[in-house]
Amino acid sequence: MDHSDFSLCRMDELVEGQARGFDPLQRGRDSVFALVHEGQVRIYRNSCPHLDVRLEYRKDRFLSADGRLIVCYAHGAQFLPSTGECVYGPCLGQKLAALPWHQEAGWVVLEGL
Ligand code: FES
Repeated sequence: MDHSDFSLCRMDELVEGQARGFDPLQRGRDSVFALVHEGQVRIYRNSCPHLDVRLEYRKDRFLSADGRLIVCYAHGAQFLPSTGECVYGPCLGQKLAALPWHQEAGWVVLEGL
């Protein structure tokens, strides 16, 4: 494991239709979040392309009520979970920053920030 890798959680702790925030730098705020969409794990930087603020309104609340879109609670931008592309709102067409990861012995390992 590289020194900049972070084990976030076990693969089976990520559930389709939910998202989880993580604080790998231990700064007291979740700087990344992970979700499973159609069986694929995605990890994004927790920063809205509109104004560079965190997306969630409280711990782990990154998704719309039906779990199908990522939502920024500042101004309601909506993003596709598969690509992070904004499909509605003030940053239309911009993307959340996707972060590289790999699976290691059943763990989701973030490859740097
Ligand atoms: S800061 Fe996210 S929509 Fe404005």
